[in-house]
Amino acid sequence: MKQGKRVGIVGAGNVGATVAYSLAMLGSCHEIILRDNKIDVARGKALDMSQAASAVRSHTVVRVAESMEDLVNCDVVVVTAGSPRLPGMSRDDLLMINANITKEVIQGIAKYSPDAIIIMVSNPLDAMTYVALKESGFDRSRVIGMAGILDSSRMAAFIQEKLGYGGGQIRASVMGGHGDDMVPLPRYSTVAGVPLTDVLSDTEIAEIVTRTRHGGAEIVGYLKTGSAYYAPAKSTAIMVEAILKDTKQIHPCAVYLDGEYGYKDIVSGVPVMLGANGAEKIIEMTLNDSEKAMFKNSCASVQDLINTLKKNNFFEEK
Ligand code: LAC
Repeated sequence: MKQGKRVGIVGAGNVGATVAYSLAMLGSCHEIILRDNKIDVARGKALDMSQAASAVRSHTVVRVAESMEDLVNCDVVVVTAGSPRLPGMSRDDLLMINANITKEVIQGIAKYSPDAIIIMVSNPLDAMTYVALKESGFDRSRVIGMAGILDSSRMAAFIQEKLGYGGGQIRASVMGGHGDDMVPLPRYSTVAGVPLTDVLSDTEIAEIVTRTRHGGAEIVGYLKTGSAYYAPAKSTAIMVEAILKDTKQIHPCAVYLDGEYGYKDIVSGVPVMLGANGAEKIIEMTLNDSEKAMFKNSCASVQDLINTLKKNNFFEEK
């Protein structure tokens, strides 16, 4: 019997497990179901997290799906499954490997949790969100990629580091794909409402923009055997909470564009209103010419990946 809200997490590696831990600590849902091919690792983490939930008097139970069949009737499913990004490997190198993993996972979700909202986390993020949308056949409002919250948080942290003040008061804005040509928007970034351009020089802002674009690689460079997971997981948990609590808050997320910003049949990061029905509204903000050009460039990179998948007949092999 299902009680309360159920969140499925496919991939119990660092990102998936940290999403689960974050949600369990918050008591955001009744049940979290972890699915991983390394079943004993998933079992161990699920037990450990359920015990941590007891410690903080959270009602959330964390358990394991022995197979995709156990990932049944989830309200939200987070997909982190995939090969991680290793040093020297671009997000794009992961394309074909992770597209095939995503295809299989999404077919299982569509079968066993047909009403779920899917949050994609696997890289290359925008292309995997596109694959998930096509393979699930779900409405575009129910397939959402996590990246914008992460990239904006990185930019905010870099702004704080540069300024030396303003922690918790910084609103940074990043649009576009989750790649090296993502679109940080200093013009729409503020410290307690004060425009960034009033507190930092052009050179300082340019440094922050560059560092944000390579924020993931900077961490891979230190970790060596894997990529970031605390900020990616927390960003994902924020999306899950907004959906479960129907907050209608606006977050930058990767969604399928159908004419918005002048683009069609592509996934990119834009401001989205999140609620019980997923991406309930896409907000179109005004971009100046140079921001539009950067967004175009970023969409072109995502389009290249989608074209590579198409050239390899990826979407035909049913
Ligand atoms: C990151 C990688 C995983 O941004 O895309 O941390």
